[in-house]
Amino acid sequence: MSMNTTFAFDVYGTLIDPLGIATTLRCYVGDKAPAFAQIWRDKQLEYLFRRALMRVYRDFPTCTRQALAFTDLRLQTRLATDAVDTLMAKYLQLPAYPDAAQSLARLKARGHRVYAFSNGHPDDLRSLLRHAGMDTQLDGVVSVHDVASFKPDPAVYQHFLDSTESAQSNTWLVSGNPFDVLGADAAGWNTAWVKRDAAAVFDPWNIQPTVTIADLRELADAV
Ligand code: LAC
Repeated sequence: MSMNTTFAFDVYGTLIDPLGIATTLRCYVGDKAPAFAQIWRDKQLEYLFRRALMRVYRDFPTCTRQALAFTDLRLQTRLATDAVDTLMAKYLQLPAYPDAAQSLARLKARGHRVYAFSNGHPDDLRSLLRHAGMDTQLDGVVSVHDVASFKPDPAVYQHFLDSTESAQSNTWLVSGNPFDVLGADAAGWNTAWVKRDAAAVFDPWNIQPTVTIADLRELADAV
């Protein structure tokens, strides 16, 4: 592999665990916390996709807050305003996956460029990555906010290439989210799917990730 390879790490679901919010949710919704966290995440992604398709952009925190309101109504949990505010604040301090920082360090040690590339808002990404101690490991953070759309809109993958001066043939998208892997594949990138959960299913679209890994630390040797 040439030395000018660029790695674009997805954030939510790849470096940072969005379901980690269940710990805080437990204080407000008790045993419904795991289901709440999953519905919230699924609805958040649905809102991003719909807004990208409709071309009615609202930023990631707005979509996240509206998905939270949906989940509260759906599960009839009647969250108070201060609970909503606390949950949104905790969303800026979600936990990193334990394999993330070492993976970045290994790639950097081999001379590769490593970026965060996310649907998240730039301010939120800065907070999250600083909280996880990964901000100083990265060569940069690219957000879809600059193009007012969301993955998997092809425009955002092109925006990443333009802003990092990378070529698609030398660029890897690293993601735990199959929709993101398929989006990058359609844009002509190399792709690494992070399948941490052995039961995770990749969309059966007759397209395979370039590599599939169970742990981000496998990445440096797998590519
Ligand atoms: C991200 C979310 C969608 O782009 O995983 O970070």
